[in-house]
Amino acid sequence: MEKRRLRLGMVGGGDGAYIGGIHRFAARLDNHFELVAGAFDVDAARGHRFAAANYIPADRSYADYKTMVETERNRTDKIDVVAICTPNHTHYPIAKAFIEAGFDVICEKPMTTTLEDAIALHELATSSGRFVGVTYTYSGYPMVHEARLRVAAGDIGKVRVIQVEYPLEWMATAIEQQGNQQAAWRTDPKKNGRGGSIGDIGTHAYHLAGFVTGLKLESLSADLATFVEGRSLDDNAHVMLRYEGGARGLLWSSQVAIGNSNGIRLRVFGDKGSLMWFQEQPNELQYTELFGLPVTIKRGRDDMGQDTKSRSRTPPGHPEGYIEAFANLYSGFAEAIMARNDGRSPGASASALPTSYDGLKGVAFVDAVVDSHESGSSKWLTPKFV
Ligand code: NAI
Repeated sequence: MEKRRLRLGMVGGGDGAYIGGIHRFAARLDNHFELVAGAFDVDAARGHRFAAANYIPADRSYADYKTMVETERNRTDKIDVVAICTPNHTHYPIAKAFIEAGFDVICEKPMTTTLEDAIALHELATSSGRFVGVTYTYSGYPMVHEARLRVAAGDIGKVRVIQVEYPLEWMATAIEQQGNQQAAWRTDPKKNGRGGSIGDIGTHAYHLAGFVTGLKLESLSADLATFVEGRSLDDNAHVMLRYEGGARGLLWSSQVAIGNSNGIRLRVFGDKGSLMWFQEQPNELQYTELFGLPVTIKRGRDDMGQDTKSRSRTPPGHPEGYIEAFANLYSGFAEAIMARNDGRSPGASASALPTSYDGLKGVAFVDAVVDSHESGSSKWLTPKFV
């Protein structure tokens, strides 16, 4: 493949949308992508205005994703990859259409709203040879990679206990009834899927715990609750987890946890030590050796693993955060795509990337959580894909 930036298209992410903007920042940061086309909004006119304001040529601002697929596939300068930044229920049909037309895909989580669609999408990704990356944001942080490397190196010994939580406060009242766009579709089972907080943010926590420990989930038992009146999906979930090798876990996701802006936090306890990471202080990792004092490991210092260093941009003391973590995923996706196109092995930045199998596992996890809750919380279930 000629040496050039990847041509990126986007579906969703228009005016007033949340995550599309983060994708655009992330795609720009390391200079591997150029945004050239999009169907940015469910409202075509608003999407065209957004495109014009964002330097997208008028002939590449599309009224809908189907027109985008059909037009782009016939261009000589067609997009290489599309970022899907729309509500959950649209991910499957959009991803399927782009993959079938030969495009690579970067898809938001949860990958689909049903397990059936997740299986079909993963199979399509595998059989077509198209790259499908899923944006499990927290696996882009350097210190999360450091935690993963340290668990794998045996620094905390055999993992005994995993505590992972993702508390948010923004849906503590019925904002979906007061015109909040993001809350409106997240509380609609047809658009969000079966799991409320567990699908929206519990999937991040589940991925983070598995990513750092490398452990496979064996079974789970869940208790879901809906605290805000009029909501039909859970806004709080507690899930007990049993991992291979005997480790036990507890996952908490909540959209009603007042005082928490974005409190995703992971604590892993082994028989020789422990590691703790908190997203609101993402440049630090706390490590405690058995009988030792807690030590704060800071991003940017020399004694980090290669996977950590390669995802770190600024010297110690200059904070990095959310945008950089997201950009690490984008750089990994670019490397995976370019390496495949060039017929070479991908470099380090593409290691441990979340792909369609992680997306499938996330949807299977939500399904098992809701099944367990519906069966009275006492039933331990094994997700179909772990
Ligand atoms: P949002 O409601 O802010 O934005 C959705 C956008 O998609 C809007 O611009 C809307 O007009 C557009 N849209 C809807 N249907 C469309 C269609 N058929 N064609 C073209 N555009 C369409 O939603 P938000 O919060 O940005 O979430 C979008 C996705 O990102 C969800 O799947 C969500 O779970 C995920 N997300 C992921 C995060 C992460 O950390 N990775 C964080 C926040 C959201």
